[in-house]
Amino acid sequence: MAQIISGKDLSQSLKDDMKKEVEELSIKYGRNPHLAVIVVGDDPSSLSYVAGKAKACEYVGIKNTTIHLEESTTEEELLELINKVNNDDSIDGLLVQLPLPRHIKEEKVIEAIDVNKDVDGFHPLNVSSLWQKKPCMLPCTPKGIIKLIEKAGLSISGKNACIIGRSNIVGLPISKLLLDRNATVTMCHSRTADLKAETKRADILVVAIGRPRFVTADMIKPGAIVIDVGINRDSEGKLCGDVDFENAKEVAGFITKVPGGVGPMTITCLMENTLEIYKRKFDI
Ligand code: GUN
Repeated sequence: MAQIISGKDLSQSLKDDMKKEVEELSIKYGRNPHLAVIVVGDDPSSLSYVAGKAKACEYVGIKNTTIHLEESTTEEELLELINKVNNDDSIDGLLVQLPLPRHIKEEKVIEAIDVNKDVDGFHPLNVSSLWQKKPCMLPCTPKGIIKLIEKAGLSISGKNACIIGRSNIVGLPISKLLLDRNATVTMCHSRTADLKAETKRADILVVAIGRPRFVTADMIKPGAIVIDVGINRDSEGKLCGDVDFENAKEVAGFITKVPGGVGPMTITCLMENTLEIYKRKFDI
């Protein structure tokens, strides 16, 4: 039976440490860190994510301003708001929750965010720095996954890592972070010819494909580290990951759960990134 790697527990201890640090820093520097979150429309997942971010901010002592815009907001209006937040010195970090309504170009929005406030690490300058091994803001989910693996005392160097999914948010950056830690990385996706042959070789399997229980126990190498990034609803409306957890845990050596795995780590890394930008401003 696999050991469960708890993102909830690690997240809690990291947030507790940050809470203390923020208390001290806010006394010393006269203000708390401040994160602005913009969400457009009423997508229930997005609203739930931004509520989670606000809750974590409150816990850690980060001031949160969540701006909820109507679905009909134009691209121009959104860009104007981003510009306003960019120019507001009292705000350290800014993120726009994705996905955006179809009439707004995501690329344009991400580029409009001041790179120095880019807590998501999505800005092209941050992405290029990541791929050139320069200092950069690490994207929250991949950063959280690395922390989970390392905290569990597992080594990455020399391992075969298989990633299912090639999104800008998870698949691509996690492949780079694993590569930088000397894993041999295989990128897979929905059109990989023989997916099972690839996953079976993986000592570290990261699944971010967004399909309920897509990875079954027979696809997992015995003893592997299985990281489930998915958050889905199955046909009965039950929350589940991209991995068939109940059966996979009998084969894997280490596994994350949904909920309570990668999800809380993403939010905690967002808190870390906000704190990092705040500290940078005071040369800490
Ligand atoms: N949508 C899904 N994940 C994320 C994330 O990490 N940041 C933003 N801004 N939107 C998302």
